[in-house]
Amino acid sequence: MALGVYISKVLAIATVVMTVSSIGGIITMMIVYETERIKTNPTPPPTPNATIVYPTGPPPNLRLPGNLIPERYDIVLQPRLYTVMNNATNQSLIFTGNSTVYFRCVEKTKTIFLHSKQNVTDVTVKDCDNKKTINVENTILYNNESNFLEIRLEAVLQEDGNYSLFTAFEGELLDDLAGFYMSSYKKETSTKDDTKTFIATSQMQPTDARKVFPCFDEPAMKAKFEVTIIHRFGTHALANGKIVESWEVTRFQTTKKMSTYLLAFTVSDFDFIGSKHERVDIKVSYGYVQLMQYKITSFISTLDQIALPDFSAGAMENWGLVTYRETALLYEEGVSSTSNKEWIATVIAHELAHQWFGNLVTMTWWNDLWLNEGFATYISYMGVDHIEPKWNIKDLIVLNDIQTVFQVDSLASSHPLSSRADDVQTPSDITELFDSITYSKGAAVLRMLADYLKDKVFMDGLKEYLQAFQYSNAVHKDLWEYLQKVKDDTVVLLVAEVMETWTMQMGYPVITINTTTGDISQEHFLLIQPSDYNFTWHVPINVMKEGSAPTSQVLAVPKERKSAFKAEDGKWVLANIDCMGYFRVNYDPENWDRLLSQLETNIHEIPLINRGQLIDDAFNLARAKRINVTLALRTTKYLRNDTEYIPWESALRNLDYFILMFDRSEVYGPMQAYMRKQVGGLYQHFENFTTVPEDHSEQYNQINAISVACSNDIEDCQKLAKKLFDNWMTNETSNPIQPNLKATIYCQAIAAGGEKEWEFAWGKFQNATLASEKDKLRFALSCTRKIWLLNRYLEYTLNPDKIRKMDSVSTINYIARNVAGQAIAWNFVRANWNYISSEYGGGIMSFGRLIEGVTQRFSTDFELQELRQFQSDYNEEELGSASRALEQAIERTQANIKWVKENKQTVLEWFRRESSESS
Ligand SMILES: *[C@@H]1O[C@H](CO)[C@@H](O)[C@H](O)[C@H]1NC(C)=O
Ligand SMILES: *[C@@H]1O[C@H](CO)[C@@H](O)[C@H](O)[C@H]1NC(C)=O
Ligand SMILES: *[C@@H]1O[C@H](CO)[C@@H](O)[C@H](O)[C@H]1NC(C)=O
Ligand SMILES: *[C@@H]1O[C@H](CO)[C@@H](O)[C@H](O)[C@H]1NC(C)=O
Ligand SMILES: *[C@@H]1O[C@H](CO)[C@@H](O)[C@H](O)[C@H]1NC(C)=O
Ligand SMILES: *[C@@H]1O[C@H](CO)[C@@H](O)[C@H](O)[C@H]1NC(C)=O
Ligand SMILES: *[C@@H]1O[C@H](CO)[C@@H](O)[C@H](O)[C@H]1NC(C)=O
Repeated sequence: MALGVYISKVLAIATVVMTVSSIGGIITMMIVYETERIKTNPTPPPTPNATIVYPTGPPPNLRLPGNLIPERYDIVLQPRLYTVMNNATNQSLIFTGNSTVYFRCVEKTKTIFLHSKQNVTDVTVKDCDNKKTINVENTILYNNESNFLEIRLEAVLQEDGNYSLFTAFEGELLDDLAGFYMSSYKKETSTKDDTKTFIATSQMQPTDARKVFPCFDEPAMKAKFEVTIIHRFGTHALANGKIVESWEVTRFQTTKKMSTYLLAFTVSDFDFIGSKHERVDIKVSYGYVQLMQYKITSFISTLDQIALPDFSAGAMENWGLVTYRETALLYEEGVSSTSNKEWIATVIAHELAHQWFGNLVTMTWWNDLWLNEGFATYISYMGVDHIEPKWNIKDLIVLNDIQTVFQVDSLASSHPLSSRADDVQTPSDITELFDSITYSKGAAVLRMLADYLKDKVFMDGLKEYLQAFQYSNAVHKDLWEYLQKVKDDTVVLLVAEVMETWTMQMGYPVITINTTTGDISQEHFLLIQPSDYNFTWHVPINVMKEGSAPTSQVLAVPKERKSAFKAEDGKWVLANIDCMGYFRVNYDPENWDRLLSQLETNIHEIPLINRGQLIDDAFNLARAKRINVTLALRTTKYLRNDTEYIPWESALRNLDYFILMFDRSEVYGPMQAYMRKQVGGLYQHFENFTTVPEDHSEQYNQINAISVACSNDIEDCQKLAKKLFDNWMTNETSNPIQPNLKATIYCQAIAAGGEKEWEFAWGKFQNATLASEKDKLRFALSCTRKIWLLNRYLEYTLNPDKIRKMDSVSTINYIARNVAGQAIAWNFVRANWNYISSEYGGGIMSFGRLIEGVTQRFSTDFELQELRQFQSDYNEEELGSASRALEQAIERTQANIKWVKENKQTVLEWFRRESSESS
């Protein structure tokens, strides 16, 4: 390995470390404050235990009975894996281990129920108070979704007695990305040597700790863990231990009291470099940062961060050992793009936020998962803003989370943020909760609440809440209670009363304002059909009138008349300033006209975020038939004079639906002509595409400028893309394309090119070491218009040596996104369904995303018929998790067919008129 490369990669580490430490900074402040309070108040308030209510009675209820409370586990794990193989070794994927769990009995019983996904041996139960062994009558491993291990005893465990349970077990490290699993990478990427290097690593959340060792695998069953890992000499289990024969034993400090899903173990051959407080482990042969250790607070003594080649989620907030997908941690200056950097900073901030929201204070049961994920998502914007104040990252929550989840939450198939505990029982019930409602809506309603209560009150309440429930569990009502205690007198409504309308009801309201009268009303907003529900929300609304400052209002009834919403002297009214509220706004036609004229004359009178939100609201109101589609399209006309990212991005995302519906029809020509006209100014604005604009959002809009210009056939742009790519092909060692534009330029050049360009990019893909660079190439390879290349690329997605399993779904979806790949991707998924579902099942492929991806263009009766045929070709079990996605695809296709029928002619005429009109 070349030393030059090594040094540049080491420099890249410094950037990331700095990032982490600064984020740690703000959160540390919070904790310091808490610690002080604990000191001045020597008897901390008792941990409220009223919230931990276990279902009564024994299973078949899928919850543990709650009669036994674990306190500590001693776990020994011994993976037999060789990280590096030589000629003679046979790889062993077995791991063995044993565990002793010490627990207290709170209700006498003759049966121990805990979770396990594997058989156990040497089961020994002891009474810790008198050191006697209690004979085991029988052990039963439940072969169903409960994953219960039942241990029947010959004697009764007494209330308030302390006991221990020893079990030994054996498991297998599979490439299934769940529990204790195996990941691999190629050590020498530059040579033709295909030797793989192996890593043992883990992912427990939500319910796979039980796949590793028998445990009380519920988030409220917190305990302390003492972990010992026995691993082959020369490998690292994240700490150094003494050598025992050819095995090394690494013993870890006992953890604080925490939930089982936060456990993590890794054994790898990653090397590390380090300093006193920060330690960065790198996989030298791979050439860049692999592991960072960073001390952030008093309650987390160390925090390791490790990037893994195979990882199902983006990252996992395991207590003290955060695991990441490589693209979420590894950054290289000059190679990674700004969005890679933003993503890394955001993910790190998200996982660090979890150390408080989730790890220190955990939801009592998974039904309140949004408390964990909504908070981490919301707080991550604060964290990134703290270290990169110039990015204005807090504004981007509107694009990244709010507009995105608005879509999902306006479908009849949506669900409330909070579910009933009893409705969430099986592992798949739990897994289903990890969706955009939980993350993005959770963040959106917390942002609205913080704005309503005011940030300081919100933060003060959070501190009290964190302190009260530390090392314990809470339900969402506890949070409302603590915020209620600190709120000031300006807030008259009960926090709980306001918030329950947002957490217990699915969807969100559309606020309709008649500015002639000041009449304002709310209704449940659904995109495709009218709502059957009579929901009412407590809606905090910031509203402004032309030339005046915003005021705050609350609408808590279905209808009201308020002067704040009444237009004066023909001036406009604008509601939901900065999109602080989780709702859409519709106006009377006159007010829409006034707002649009304002945009034509002086855009700066309308706040930036609202320029984007007006577009997003208008397009969605049109989909829901509350306004005309032409009014929605008219909101994009003024963009000729706006070079800001938020409005452009809002427009492009909404116009994307028009592209999907019409790029196979005669509407597309006039639409492209309109887009060429609109993007002209923006393209000129950026002119020099070899330099990177200083401003963060300008950098993103530069990407938009080039991708809209090139994909709508602006010749200059296409020539530029070709030239840059050709230069790269000629001089392979120096890539002339600036990192932000790589994905777009690669894609355009491959689309315009043939086999030569494709093969070049494929070679680069195989040899790239940085995962984010690989991702850009993997996407761009899907852009070719050559069917045979697309078909071959589809075949590659089922060969893990070519495309990693974790990347197959997105690759197939990229191909389907290409209009030339649409039909073949759908055929491919149908033709290979049996293979895909057997080899790639078990959560690796998100079948939901796959079905959604390959059917997103569907808008004809014929396509609907094909979907129905596919559904009837397989039974429920064969379809597995795709079954619900298929239902939704059918629903969506029906809605698309209807929409195209109703709007095609109007849209065609509008684009024709607007693109021919001389300007
Ligand atoms: C917690 O539980 C104990 C024992 O059941 C009880 O005495 C105590 O009052 C409970 N505390 C609260 C705050 O409910
Ligand atoms: C691997 O095996 C081949 C053939 O069996 C042998 O020639 C070679 O020396 C071996 N390499 C190592 C590193 O053991
Ligand atoms: C647990 O496993 C370790 C490693 O295999 C072994 O050394 C130890 O003796 C086991 N403990 C018991 C009580 O069997
Ligand atoms: C556990 O052991 C039983 C009996 O030997 C066997 O039938 C079952 O398949 C085993 N289960 C697992 C998960 O290994
Ligand atoms: C809807 O709610 C309003 C006010 O809460 C109530 O007056 C009305 O009867 C409800 N209608 C239905 C159909 O439930
Ligand atoms: C607004 O209110 C006026 C006065 O009642 C009414 O004439 C008009 O139709 C209303 N506009 C809308 C869009 O409902
Ligand atoms: C929608 O367009 C039609 C025909 O152009 C027009 O008659 C109608 O008033 C428009 N409706 C709204 C709400 O703007």
